[in-house]
Formats: sequence, C-alpha cells, structure tokens
Amino acid sequence: MYSVGIVTVSDKGAKGEREDISGKKMAELLPKDRYEVISRKILPDEKELLEQELVRLTDICNCNLILTTGGTGFSQRDITPEATLCVAERNAPGIAEAIRAYSMTVTKRAMLSRGVSVIRGSTLIINLPGSPKAVTESLSCVLGVIEHGLDLLMGNGQECAR
Ligand code: MTE
Repeated sequence: MYSVGIVTVSDKGAKGEREDISGKKMAELLPKDRYEVISRKILPDEKELLEQELVRLTDICNCNLILTTGGTGFSQRDITPEATLCVAERNAPGIAEAIRAYSMTVTKRAMLSRGVSVIRGSTLIINLPGSPKAVTESLSCVLGVIEHGLDLLMGNGQECAR
C-alpha cells in the first residue's frame, strides 16, 4: 500500500467559502487496493503553511505520495510550486511534463499550470491544478505509471526491463 497525503491549496476553501470537491475527487480516484489516504487538509495560499505541511507529511507521516491541488496558476496568490520547490531535494520533472502534455490534448489552457513534481526523501510530491476536471484529467495520465517510481523510492523496485 502507498500512503498518501492530500493538500488542497485554496484561500476560499480554507475559509469555508468553497467546498473542497477537488480534494475529495483525488481521494476517490486513487484505487483503494493500493493507495491509502492518511491525511487530507485544506490550506490557504500561504507559502510557509504549505511548506510546513509538506515537511510534516514527508518527514513525520512518511507519506509515499503527496498530491496537492490548486495554486499552480498565474494569480499573485498562487504559490504552490514555489513552496514545493522549497522543500524539494530532487527534481522529478517528467511527471509534471507528462501531466501538461496530456492535458494540452484536452485544453490549451493546461500550459497555464506551473505545477511541479519533486522528491523529498522517499516521498514523491506532485502538484495538480485546482479544478475537479483538471484533477481527474491529470490523475488519469499518471496513475499506474508512477507506481514504478514509488516502488523505487521505497527501495522495492525491480530493475527496469530493457
Ligand atoms: N489542466 C487540465 N488537465 N485541465 C484543465 O481544465 N486548467 C488550466 C490549467 N491546467 C486545466 C489544466 C487552467 S485554466 C489554469 S488557470 C491552470 O491549470 C492553473 O490552475 P490552478 O491555479 O487552479 O492550479
């Protein structure tokens, strides 16, 4: 089982002015036989708060995977990629690239997401855009494929077949 932390980054969500449909959607889309959501939080678009939560989920909760939703766009308050890069130890750009490449086949606006994918310790952190639609599209592209990466991070990986 992969343990998962979910973070919704939204000023409105944190104030209770908007229902967290995207966070709920992410939890629903993860296959229950392989993924266990151990934490789900809504935070405002505040860089330090998000950094603290990512460090907690990684260093204390030992999540295998952290998924964030929201705060990847161009608004002045959008700081999710910057907070994620601050706690990152290694870059894993292929996942964010794959999400954008697949999403561009659905909407050209996918290029406006600045989401990143990185590794801290043995935790993979992936930023997804904020809308439930974008979450569904992005996850459909990476789920399944990332499991080989998660296994390698956990030290359980098999050699890649050549
Ligand atoms: N990616 C997918 N797959 N589907 C979408 O509808 N919306 C885009 C983009 N990525 C979208 C997407 C839009 S309109 C924006 S502004 C950016 O994600 C940033 O979204 P965020 O600020 O909610 O994170």
